Amino acid sequence: MKKVLKSILGLFLIALSVSIFTGCTKEETVEVGICLPSGEQNRWLQDKAQFEEMLDGVGFSSEVLFSQASSITEKENVKKLVDKGIKVLIICPEDSEAAADSIQYAKDNGVKVITYDRLITDSDGVDYFVTFNSTEVGALQAQYLIDNKPEGKGIPLYLYTGLPADNNAGIFFRGSWEVLQPYLADGTFVLANCPEAQNNIYNKELSQEVVDKIVMQEATDWSYEVANNRAKAEFANATKDQKGDILILAANDDTARGIADVVLQDPDVTSYKITGQDAGLASVVYIVNGKQGMSVFKNTNTLAKNACKVAMSILNGEEVETNAESNNGKLYVPTLETPVECITIDNYVEKLIDSGYYTLAQINQYK
Ligand code: BGC
Repeated sequence: MKKVLKSILGLFLIALSVSIFTGCTKEETVEVGICLPSGEQNRWLQDKAQFEEMLDGVGFSSEVLFSQASSITEKENVKKLVDKGIKVLIICPEDSEAAADSIQYAKDNGVKVITYDRLITDSDGVDYFVTFNSTEVGALQAQYLIDNKPEGKGIPLYLYTGLPADNNAGIFFRGSWEVLQPYLADGTFVLANCPEAQNNIYNKELSQEVVDKIVMQEATDWSYEVANNRAKAEFANATKDQKGDILILAANDDTARGIADVVLQDPDVTSYKITGQDAGLASVVYIVNGKQGMSVFKNTNTLAKNACKVAMSILNGEEVETNAESNNGKLYVPTLETPVECITIDNYVEKLIDSGYYTLAQINQYK
């Protein structure tokens, strides 16, 4: 009897130590490493949650790290993940150009690189690009302003762009410009800021140099505060005929709220229409309250799912499905593009709540 008990105990101890051992190795090895720009912005927290849920669901271990607005942190994060044995790196670059350096260590160690949402430029180390249709984002914003413009001509239009180091900022702006430019050329809209854009109102096709200058001139760095301060300064200097019923192109939701909060305080602005992007919860509430006109819904579930699909195809040695190509200055990167949609007060319930993307409780939390 003693002997039997002893061997049962022995088997139990072996099983325990094996499970502790395998548990440890599982925790230390990561198959897919993910680097996202910021843990403070609603947008990237949503992406993080999606990645964790999806990769976990299919049994791949993953880890998400944030660069927190620093290319140095980004590079350190890439190294940490590569040292944990990742096979695939999904990275949304903090700075599209500087990230070429961040991913070098991954390339040197045979890791496949998926550039996520934002393209890594001037690098031949990128394998795939998983993104939204960013030109369409800008076009939808511009179209909203046209569809909701006041009557008549000479309507003041303000332009606010994103973060100059983010390759997307220029793509969004170019997408908007192609739609807005005819209305500037015929005097329907009159620019109330951005002299560089004013110099180009008769040019539909802008050179990259001009786009870069415009993005720089009205940069918001994707930040509520930067956008808020820029708008405060510009509205304090604007003349009365640059106010009244106005239109504002704001590149994303955080910047839209920063600008709207200035305009709402200006007694000389009688009405305004402002754009956004991301359909983040805080901005959905602004839309419900009439403080923001629209947002562009970028379904991060779909984007993260698409990035996971690409990662899984790589890990399983299968063919990767793409539907476009993006020139990053060094090569044409096989690209998987995801569509985007315009969200307004008229369709947010159907698109965001009925679809299950947000719950009413989540929206109410922000009210
Ligand atoms: C993304 C936007 C986001 C912005 C700020 C851009 O690259 O495409 O969705 O609002 O970065 O985080």
